[in-house]
Amino acid sequence: MNRKLWDRMGKIAPSILSADISRLGEDIQMLDQSGADWIHIDVMDGHFVSNLTFGPNVVAAAKLNTDLPLDVHLMVEEPEKMIDNFIEAGATGVTVHAEATKNLHRVMQDIKAQGAYAGVVINPGTPVSFIEPVLPIVDLVLVMTVNPGAGGQEFLSEMLQKIEDLASYRRENDLEFLIQVDGGINDETIKICHDAGADVFVAGSNIFGADSPVDQIQTLKNLVN
Ligand code: DX5
Ligand code: ZN
Repeated sequence: MNRKLWDRMGKIAPSILSADISRLGEDIQMLDQSGADWIHIDVMDGHFVSNLTFGPNVVAAAKLNTDLPLDVHLMVEEPEKMIDNFIEAGATGVTVHAEATKNLHRVMQDIKAQGAYAGVVINPGTPVSFIEPVLPIVDLVLVMTVNPGAGGQEFLSEMLQKIEDLASYRRENDLEFLIQVDGGINDETIKICHDAGADVFVAGSNIFGADSPVDQIQTLKNLVN
């Protein structure tokens, strides 16, 4: 694993769910030049969540416009059926919902075997204990801080305990996975997530709704570094 990708500096991962889809290439070029660390791509299949968004072709198009890591969050049922396509399209990492597959451990192994980082994500209603068996092999754990499916929702502060529990588990077991948060991240919530132990911060509406997305990315970055 590329250590630069993996160091524990606070990382900002803008979600293109809130980008202007009619000008997606330009928005990705803007992110590329913005100081953002990763680009977060929210894939929704109309089953795991009701919305439908991006397929592997969007990952391939993003790849043409940036060298930043492409962080693919699969909100899909049976993710095992599509991880190959997303990695071939250029995903740097693939994060899979623990609730969406019966073969979570194998999916993590398969993602890593293809040279991508393997992430596991839990919904607000899923406890950390549910993913404990895969924690020794994952590269990243995403704690959803809203229910998945849409941008612009309010941060669920009850999720902070999960971040703290994961950070303790990581320390006690000498593990290295990154802890990512996604949903309702803004100038206030990013700080409390960072204090709880999170390393990677996804933000959509807070960045793309700002007068200057580039300035807002820098503001968020300064709050966690
Ligand atoms: C929610 C997505 C998020 C979303 C976050 O289902 O996984 O990545 O874009 O949006 P904000 O930052 O607006 O809460
Ligand atoms: Zn996401």
